[in-house]
Formats: sequence, structure tokens, C-alpha cells
Amino acid sequence: MIELSGLTKRYGEKTAVADLTFSVRPGIVTGFLGPNGAGKSTTMRMMLGLDNPTAGDVRIDGKHYAQLKDPLRYIGALLDAKAMHGGRSAYNHLLCLAQSNGIPRSRVHEVLDTVGLTAVARKKAKGFSLGMGQRLGIAGALLGDPQILMFDEPVNGLDPEGIHWIRNLMKSLATAGRTVFVSSHLMSEMALTADHLVVIGQGRLLADMSMPDFIRQNSRSYVRLRSPQRERLLDVLHRDGITVVESGGTLEVDGHPAEELGELAARNQLVLHELSPQQASLEEAFMQLTAESVEYHAHTDAPEQQNPQNPQNPQQSGWGSGWNQANREKGA
Ligand SMILES: Nc1ncnc2c1ncn2[C@@H]1O[C@H](COP(=O)(O)OP(=O)(O)OP(=O)(O)O)[C@@H](O)[C@H]1O
Ligand SMILES: [Mg+2]
Repeated sequence: MIELSGLTKRYGEKTAVADLTFSVRPGIVTGFLGPNGAGKSTTMRMMLGLDNPTAGDVRIDGKHYAQLKDPLRYIGALLDAKAMHGGRSAYNHLLCLAQSNGIPRSRVHEVLDTVGLTAVARKKAKGFSLGMGQRLGIAGALLGDPQILMFDEPVNGLDPEGIHWIRNLMKSLATAGRTVFVSSHLMSEMALTADHLVVIGQGRLLADMSMPDFIRQNSRSYVRLRSPQRERLLDVLHRDGITVVESGGTLEVDGHPAEELGELAARNQLVLHELSPQQASLEEAFMQLTAESVEYHAHTDAPEQQNPQNPQNPQQSGWGSGWNQANREKGA
């Protein structure tokens, strides 16, 4: 278990992490999300005692990192895959870590095998590709067979097989009762991997909840209807006081379950060609929640469309065309 309480980090004028209080629990994968510069890596560095908090506290199983004897046996972490002595071979890099933490040499072979680097174990790490470096970093995290694992953007640079492998690895570690804390910007990957989410923006906690709750609370869900008797269906819905958004050839209804709408159509002998609940993706929910905390926007040459509800800020267009279009494409 990792427990943060009021964790804060300031660099001069800049508050990188602001009063974060949350726990990372065992037995599940907890995703750590936030836009660029939100403070994820800084938070993780403080968890590992690599940065001192300006205020607040972070404890690993009730202790500060510095109080852990042989810390790699408690918590394994991949923060920066390039943070290793490039002149050392993969084997020697892991051997150094093992020897300084009372871990047997045989374990080095085991983890090299687990991450698929046995064939290049004697090669110098500086010649490794990004993905090979990530694998070596993950091997280092697994070395002490710790109860708690922390990965900062572990899928960066991994090939599809590698992404699939790390997803299954994290899930199996959590299923075995371990604590797994992982940051990533790949929302589709996170949606498949994480059970619980902690989301921060500009250093502050924005959400700490299960994946389904997060998507439900931060996105619009609705039911899409299509009927050859569209006008009659519209009349029936309006007669029942149901608000309908007309979208191209389909109708969208918020706040009424598909069952209720289907039964209403049946009672009125209306033919439906579609009756489908629509739920936003994690990416859409994340963009909605963090829209105001994104610090670094890219500039685009394409002319921006003005949002009629918020002409000052076309990027924060709420349920704008992107969301609907994405869903339409999915459902088409
Ligand atoms: N050593 C440092 N000195 C000064 N400022 C720093 C330092 N480390 C981080 N920061 C600042 O703290 C803020 C949070 O950075 P951090 O790297 O934790 O963000 P992040 O959420 O990991 O972002 P990314 O998704 O881009 O990796 C940024 O504004 C960053 O510039
Ligand atoms: Mg980071």
C-alpha cells in the first residue's frame, strides 16, 4: 500500500504537486493519469525518496522509502529507462542492483528471461533501443520480487507484442495481490489495464475512482435510436416529455435507459432499426475532465472551429463534434 497525504512539491515559483492525498491499494492496477507536466513523475520520484516533498508525506507500507531495508524487495520501479550506466551490460546492471539489495544472482537470469532480454544480456545498455531499455528497466523493477510496483509510462517505445506483454504482466501482478501503480498517456491501453484511476492536473487531484465510475461521471452517455418511422417516434418521445437530440439520421436520448425507450416504441408499434446505449471512451472522459488543466497545447495550422457555447475557447468545446463524430464512427 502506498499512502500520500498532503504531498506537495514546489520548484521555486512552480508548484509541481499540490496537496495530493490518496492511497494506492493492492490487488488492482491503479492508473495514474494527467496531461504533460501535471506532476506524475514528480509524485513518483517523491514516493521513491528521489525528491523531497516541500510539504506532506508519502509512505510505503507505513514507512518512508529511506526506512526500508533492501528497498527493491518492497517496491520496484521503472521511472526513466535511460537512467542506467550505459557502459554496463544488461546483466551487470541488474547484478549491481541485486547485490546492493541482498538479491541472489539467479534472480538476474530469471528477470532477464521474463522480459525477453536473455539473448542480449551481455550487450552494453547504451546500444539498446528505446523498447529494449524499457524492458531492462522493467526487469530492474521486478528484480526484488516486490509487493509494490510502479511504472512511469512503461509502454513507451514498446512494440505491439511488448505492449500486450506488459499489460498482461501488470494484470497478473495485481491478480497475485500486488500493488501496481502505472502512468501512461495511452488511454486505450489504460482502459484495458487499469481497474482504478488517479487523475491529476497541474499538480492537483482531479479524480480518484474506479474506471467505470470515472467514465460514467466524466462523459455523456445516451441511447441512439434509428427508425424508418422517425417522425412518429419523435412524436411519441415528445409526448412522454423525453428530450431528443436529432443527429443526422439518428436520434439521441439522454437520461432514459434503452429498455424504457424500446418498450415505449413497442407499445406504440414503432419499428426500430437501432436502439443502442452509447458510452464515451476513457480518452473522451479524460479530455473532458482535464480540458482546463492542460498547460501545453500544440498549435495547429488548420482553422479552429468556434464553439458557439464558448467562443473564447474552442478547444474546450465540451460535447463538441469530436466526441459525437468518434462515436458515430464507432457505431457506423
Ligand atoms: N527538477 C525540476 N526542477 C524544476 N521544475 C521541475 C523539475 N521537475 C519537474 N518540474 C516541473 O514540475 C512540473 C511537473 O512535471 P512532471 O515531470 O512531474 O510532470 P508529468 O506529469 O510527469 O508530465 P509528463 O506527462 O510530460 O511526463 C512541470 O511543470 C515540470 O516542469
Ligand atoms: Mg512524466
